[in-house]
Amino acid sequence: MSIFYREVLGRDFRLRGFIPARDYPRGFVIAWVELVGFRANEKPGDKEEEDGVTADSFERVALVTGAAGGIGRAVSVRLAHAGWSVLATDLPEASCEETLRAVREAGGDGMTLAQDVTSTSGWKDVVEAIRDRWGRLDALVNNAGIEGVVAPFENSPEDAFDRVMAVNVKGVFLGIQTCLPILRERGGGSVVNVASVAGLVGDPNIAPYIASKHAVLGLTRSAALSAAADGVTVNAVCPSPIETRMMRALEKGMSEEAPDAIRTSIAGSIPLGRYGSPEEVASMVAFLVGEEARFVTGSIHTVDGGMTPH
Ligand code: NAI
Repeated sequence: MSIFYREVLGRDFRLRGFIPARDYPRGFVIAWVELVGFRANEKPGDKEEEDGVTADSFERVALVTGAAGGIGRAVSVRLAHAGWSVLATDLPEASCEETLRAVREAGGDGMTLAQDVTSTSGWKDVVEAIRDRWGRLDALVNNAGIEGVVAPFENSPEDAFDRVMAVNVKGVFLGIQTCLPILRERGGGSVVNVASVAGLVGDPNIAPYIASKHAVLGLTRSAALSAAADGVTVNAVCPSPIETRMMRALEKGMSEEAPDAIRTSIAGSIPLGRYGSPEEVASMVAFLVGEEARFVTGSIHTVDGGMTPH
């Protein structure tokens, strides 16, 4: 009887043991319950990809904002490598085509959309597009962000403050608010907010950016409490300086004439002696949206080469 079941039901069938023919139909019922239970309990990570790499997930969909930038692209590619489908969004003028190409090279399914994270209707359009294409969302990575203007506190321009708050804080707020219903539909999902070590310490020359990243941590903790009953986790990542356009802009903002000296000085203040890479941030994000982090929520994860304990 056991052989019969295996042939009919396919290779997913887990054999419980030999079922003597005389026990039929009781054995059949046990086998059937096992098969159904196995399928129902199938989890990300169970699937063995054809090339032998064990995927961390399958048929899972992530939305990554600011995906044309350094960290957003690395996160998109890292998730694609782990078997996720990725919707990569960014401002219309910042094309995600290169990110999409890299996602596909990594073997992932992907799509790009123009999105301004400060727009409520833009968020609704993005969720609609996800429903149309995949019908589900498993992870939201709120990564889009701007550095604002480098200026002493007293001279920090008001309009730059407003813009930093709109993108870095309101963008995250709207993202969580709009995506929670679709995340909840699957009975569990994840949000990862890309904050910064700027959310943990002060700096007199980038006060709006510092304030915005502190606010992201407040949103993270509050959203985590709000979403926990639905099995949705919400966490934040706090990177130190990372090798992307943003740090080049900040170095120039601190010294137009000698940005390289600024860079050397900042790198020297990091105990590990260097900036991080976008891929190092992406690894933490991948962990937080993965199965191994299902009991992790409302927490703040530094990826900072030892900068904040310093
Ligand atoms: P990046 O400048 O390369 O990427 C940021 C992306 O966000 C850009 O592609 C930009 O077009 C997009 N963006 C800006 N405004 C937007 C809006 N209104 N709507 C949608 N997209 C928008 O910078 P990076 O380094 O990749 O930054 C990603 C995130 O990481 C940001 O939130 C940043 O604050 C954070 N971060 C970066 C660090 C670094 O040293 N590079 C350190 C700590 C945190």
